[in-house]
Amino acid sequence: MAQHRVAVIAGDGIGKEVVPAGLRVLNAALEAAGAPGLLTAEFDWGSEYYLQNGRMMPEDALATLDRFDAIYLGAIGDPRVPDHVSLWGLLLPIRKSFDLYVNLRPVKLLRGVTSPLRDKEPADIDFLCVRENTEGEYAGVGGRVHTGTPYEVALQTNVFTYHAVERIVRYSFELARTRRHRLASITKSNACQYSMVFWDEVVEAVSKGYPDVEVNRMHVDAAAAYFVTRPESFDVVVASNLFADILTDLGGAIQGSLGMAPSANLSPERKHPSLFEPVHGSAPDIAGKGIANPAGAIWAGSMMLDFLGESQAAALVMEALQQILEAGQTKTPDLGGKASTEEMAGEIAEMVRSLAGKL
Ligand code: NAD
Ligand code: IPM
Ligand code: MN
Repeated sequence: MAQHRVAVIAGDGIGKEVVPAGLRVLNAALEAAGAPGLLTAEFDWGSEYYLQNGRMMPEDALATLDRFDAIYLGAIGDPRVPDHVSLWGLLLPIRKSFDLYVNLRPVKLLRGVTSPLRDKEPADIDFLCVRENTEGEYAGVGGRVHTGTPYEVALQTNVFTYHAVERIVRYSFELARTRRHRLASITKSNACQYSMVFWDEVVEAVSKGYPDVEVNRMHVDAAAAYFVTRPESFDVVVASNLFADILTDLGGAIQGSLGMAPSANLSPERKHPSLFEPVHGSAPDIAGKGIANPAGAIWAGSMMLDFLGESQAAALVMEALQQILEAGQTKTPDLGGKASTEEMAGEIAEMVRSLAGKL
């Protein structure tokens, strides 16, 4: 079998810590499944690169990345570089240029993790957020005039196109069909009378082709409360770029830690490499301490293996991760433990090996 070519961008802060941890587990799983390890190329792009070269990644970076089967990314963001410069210089251009229009973010309480939601068990928190990943509030349309005067104006324009809304909604209906046949569409159509009413109309039209899927329309403020009060009512959740960005940090929190949450930026038609990353950022408050939770990165890696057709290795990763969490001896501090990133990843890799052939 051919090796999968993966471009690795660890990036900044704890990205540099969780990505090696993830790769260690992924390669252990491939080996245990009898598949060749990943053929990785590491790119030192990010804020350090920016401070030296005046840009976050080289001019031909997108062409370089396009030659890979997938991209595995840690996090971008450094206190020495303005966040809008670092993100618009690397992560957001990849998502947009490669048209990675689905940002799939599972919200699932794994076995062995305690949710801050009292009495909620893994069976209660198990849904998929589908985030529109190319436009909406992140369209990058706007400007500033009369800068530095009392008459300064700042515009940040939301862009919602039929093309992009229709395809993300359709993807979500299809996904709901493979699960519990429930779709929550999150808007704010009471206040946003153009963009969000349009979104609702597209959902209504697409729903006609999916009579077997129950659709629930919700305002984002109410949805935020329902994530906390009745997470078991969700199956597939679809929302705009910004709404789903915010809701999936809340999703991470109810999964026990933002460090648990994974994310897959997908080109469903495989026109370009898809990008896999944890939901969290570079966490400057804990960077360099070796205590970042590697689970979100490991889980995102499992999603990557699945997407690359390595379903056995992907399943091994998730089972090993959960067995280590259940054993409870090797958890990072955000999960209430004392383990380092490396210790936790090492135990998971070890567990992968001992599970080989048993799944
Ligand atoms: P953050 O996700 O980096 O951190 C928020 C909080 O969660 C912090 O207290 C942090 O310590 C904790 N946390 C996050 N991941 C953790 C992990 N794996 N283990 C344990 N604790 C973890 O969000 P922020 O502080 O708003 O942003 C920091 C920087 O990261 C900013 O520059 C921001 O722009 C960037 N960012 C990048 C991405 C990305 O590259 N995908 C995502 C979010 C934020
Ligand atoms: C995420 C991040 C990014 C986003 C930021 C860093 C631009 O928060 O992936 O959730 O908002 O998409
Ligand atoms: Mn986010």
